[in-house]
Amino acid sequence: MSKPTIVDVHTHVYPPRYVSILKSRRTVPYVRDTVPGQPSRLIILPGEDSPSSQTTAAGRPIGPEYYDINAKIAFMDTHGIDISVISLANPWLDFLDPHEAPSIARSLNEDLNNICKTYPSRLFAFGALPLSAATDALVDEIDRLPSFAHMRGVIMGTGGLGNGLDDPSLDPVYRALEATQMTIFLHPHYGLPKEVFGPRAAEYGHVLPLALGFPLETTVAVSRMILSGVFDRFPKLTVLLAHSGGTLPFLAGRLESCIMHDAHYRPEGRRGVWDVLRTNIMLDAVVYSELGVRAAAAASGADRVMFGTDHPFFPPLENENAQGESADGKKSEKWLSVTTNYKAIHDAFGEDKAQAEAVLGGNAVRLLRLTL
Ligand code: URA
Ligand code: ZN
Repeated sequence: MSKPTIVDVHTHVYPPRYVSILKSRRTVPYVRDTVPGQPSRLIILPGEDSPSSQTTAAGRPIGPEYYDINAKIAFMDTHGIDISVISLANPWLDFLDPHEAPSIARSLNEDLNNICKTYPSRLFAFGALPLSAATDALVDEIDRLPSFAHMRGVIMGTGGLGNGLDDPSLDPVYRALEATQMTIFLHPHYGLPKEVFGPRAAEYGHVLPLALGFPLETTVAVSRMILSGVFDRFPKLTVLLAHSGGTLPFLAGRLESCIMHDAHYRPEGRRGVWDVLRTNIMLDAVVYSELGVRAAAAASGADRVMFGTDHPFFPPLENENAQGESADGKKSEKWLSVTTNYKAIHDAFGEDKAQAEAVLGGNAVRLLRLTL
């Protein structure tokens, strides 16, 4: 029996050009060179470099796994991943000066496509948009994307042009994405206001912002898209939600019910939340539990859920590595964050191997058209 194709749809890179930009900066987001001989540190999350920060809160070490595509391929080989759809990691181009953003976006999208060409059958990409620039520049960049053989969409945060993803000014962007069949990979970065996590938040490292802030940010962003009628106006627009849609699979019923019971919100021709979930939305399976994978599959359909790793984030902590053997027989380190997601998929589908295989790769190949 041939091995099923495994596709990672949630896996990030910072191409060298982007690392240079971060190294030239002194405020978040930036890369800080620390003590000679020690790895540089990547400081990207809001408030991460405040003086009260503890160890994990002062960024994370950044090594080749963040910017060297050969390290990505080695990681893929270690974990049996055949194809990766790489995307720029947060905070993308959100912080750039509006005048420089369009040309940097052009260069970075070319970089991403060229990186894919170095392993043509193994890499595809979600590009980046110059969201601080004028909508015309965004539309121009989207219109260029189909000319890149490896490009299948764009990764976007929740800020949009500054007013979120329910901003009507984004309509030309959504229209262009729909017309070019480019999927939005919607990914969090900004989390929740820090007051939500209270005065002891720093004691808990990154746990609250990453485990809860990120998924709730995504949930609110996509709910605002639904409520503002984005999917009514652009019924063929497709959105891949990071982290299995945050809490949307669990809360979709409540969202729909609140809509049905709100006398002040009666939009014409509204499509239901479940319809959007099963038609426009795709969910990654980066949720680390059988329960989460089952919820994602129940909400959007098992034919719309796709394996991911979030590499290079969540590496094993020292001395806590699972060990495995790579294809060439060399001992290599398997990441707990990845093996947990593999196990969650296998446990969620049990004897139904065909569904597990679809989530592991078949869905991504079909939905994202991963052939050249
Ligand atoms: N932390 C981040 O900043 N980004 C990710 O994608 C995952 C963890
Ligand atoms: Zn991610």
